[in-house]
Amino acid sequence: MSSDFESFPVEDLRELIRYHEHKYYVENQPQISDYEFDQLMVKLGQLEAAESQSPPVDSPTQRIGGPVVENSRGTRIQHHGPMLSLENTYDPEILRSFDQRVRQALPGQEITYIGELKIDGLGVALFYQNGYLSYGATRGNGQFGEDVTVNLRTIKSIPLRLKAVTSEPMPDQIEVRGEVFMPKAALDLVNQQRDANEEPPFVNPRNAAAGSLRLLDPGITAQRPLDIFLYHLSFGIDLQTHQQSLDEIQKFGFKLNPYNEIHTTIDSVIDYYHRLCQIRHTLDYEVDGIVVKVNDLTQQRVLGTTAKFPRWAICCKFPASQVTTRIERIEVQVGRMGILTPVAHLQPVEVGGATITHATLHNEQELIRKDIRIGDQVILKRSGDVIPKITQVLPDKRDGTEQIFRLPDLCPDCQSPIQRSENETAVRCVNTECPAQRKRRISHFTSRSALEIEGLGEQIVDQLVEADLVKTVADLYQLQMGDLLGLEKFAEKKAGNLLQAIENSKTVALPRVLFGLGIQHVGQTVAISLCENLLSMDAIMEATTERLQEINGIGEKIANSLVGFFSRSENRNLISRLREAGLQLAAIEASTTSSSDRHNFFVDKTFVLTGVLTTMTRAEATQQIEDLGGKVTGHISRKTDFLVVGESPGSKQKRALELEVEVLAEADFQRLILR
Ligand code: IVH
Repeated sequence: MSSDFESFPVEDLRELIRYHEHKYYVENQPQISDYEFDQLMVKLGQLEAAESQSPPVDSPTQRIGGPVVENSRGTRIQHHGPMLSLENTYDPEILRSFDQRVRQALPGQEITYIGELKIDGLGVALFYQNGYLSYGATRGNGQFGEDVTVNLRTIKSIPLRLKAVTSEPMPDQIEVRGEVFMPKAALDLVNQQRDANEEPPFVNPRNAAAGSLRLLDPGITAQRPLDIFLYHLSFGIDLQTHQQSLDEIQKFGFKLNPYNEIHTTIDSVIDYYHRLCQIRHTLDYEVDGIVVKVNDLTQQRVLGTTAKFPRWAICCKFPASQVTTRIERIEVQVGRMGILTPVAHLQPVEVGGATITHATLHNEQELIRKDIRIGDQVILKRSGDVIPKITQVLPDKRDGTEQIFRLPDLCPDCQSPIQRSENETAVRCVNTECPAQRKRRISHFTSRSALEIEGLGEQIVDQLVEADLVKTVADLYQLQMGDLLGLEKFAEKKAGNLLQAIENSKTVALPRVLFGLGIQHVGQTVAISLCENLLSMDAIMEATTERLQEINGIGEKIANSLVGFFSRSENRNLISRLREAGLQLAAIEASTTSSSDRHNFFVDKTFVLTGVLTTMTRAEATQQIEDLGGKVTGHISRKTDFLVVGESPGSKQKRALELEVEVLAEADFQRLILR
């Protein structure tokens, strides 16, 4: 590619880099690889170094340590009109009162609203003089903010120079306002680093953004992955509607939130609130609600402001996704591999719309590292569409009654001595007869990713094991109506449904059965690959470690685990019993139909992956799709057939909705590859 730009005048190269910065940081649609982009930057650095005069302030090389007009960081800056805050409610029905108030003040007029997400970060104002970023400031007390220009310049989605709108003259001065934020994944990384440096973690994204923007060294700010969404044109151009200002802001090269929406009724605004509340956990930045704004700027002026709030806008918050609660006690759970996990029983709290009573504490090391004690106040956070996590202990809130907790020396379920090995964080119960392990092995077998037996969740599995009706998964297939009717809360209908679901599970494809056995290191992808290569349970059982390692993706660890598992007579016996019960243990017949369905399904289909997949890596998912005849691309377009979304998928999901591309949740995608 070097020949493309080597002969460029230096300003053309700057323009090319600005173009790619905008594509990457503002539009989220990179046109070249990171490597190619870095090469352009290197080249520009060289060309600028060879020039006699210093580079212009808006050169992409001047984001960090560029010529600061005056070293004014920390000084106060007066805003162009006060930066107000917003009236808050948690109740979407209050939006109706807001609507009535607006309509009463504007009798007979048509009202249009714009719904926006309320981004959880730090509000800033950016001032451009003759098209160049002149300064940027925090909100401060609303009248005066703190000058943080040098740090704001490091945010790549902030243009150092406005993009020229060809049909219009460049305005002399404009001020725009927006929210600087740190994406969730970046916040986790920054907190991990802070933890390693024994610095306290940022409690929330707002603190992270504020802390990073107010650093004295812009070189460090530049390493913090900050971003910005603009939501207000506060000075410089007279327009009729807020929507027009947003369009204008976008034309100048700023980043807008993709979820802004126009509404003509308050019902539609309330619907917007509920829709966004549902998807907010999938976004890769924190939001704490929606902001509803009257669209017409003349109407906004008529409505006016109170001392603190505009009367033309309101914020309706989502239920908190981060709360403080107390650990009431710690219980030890035994997993299917015998691993002991401490689980916190919490004072029940609502987080992100769900009442939470438990949270895993992972392992003993984690307890020690974070110094988590019974009775501690903790911060509980729901960030992905996942189980909430304890992110922080609040030692300042201790009153001295808190108790240190350590894992026991005996298994809490079967009382056999537990094993602590030097090189493993895990503490295990090694008694394979342990009833707790049995229960979890059976639950794994019946789970959605394995045999998918509806109505056979953990509680019922516990009931069946405790009543001695089921010891191994093969016993499930011997259950009779009479056995179930003897159990508490089992009437004929429930028992019948369960027996039918168990019967139906006999036809699932071999990879699900293999995965359901819960062999250590044999996840879904490995199970599929084993079945595709060896074609039957018998062949997998008889395969030597050498033969297994010939299969792509199977190394020594997995091979040893498989051979070890199938060398035990109780496991071979289990397979015979499953076969006798009528389970399908050959891949060939079982898959002649399903495999070709699968084949037909994936062939020539284009997939895009986004977000963090929890059950496999992206490389594994890509491999699966390609093995089945599909294609994986990096960018979503009308030609994309499916978008597979993991946690925190970002803007691609919104794009998929716009382009009517079908969205597959990770679990649905898994089901397709396991068909
Ligand atoms: S509008 C007068 N829109 O929330 C209008 N603010 O509590 C005030 N914020 O200081 C701002 N997302 O920092 C507006 N889409 C959005 C917003 C937003 C986040 C912040 C902003 C403001 C605070 C008000």
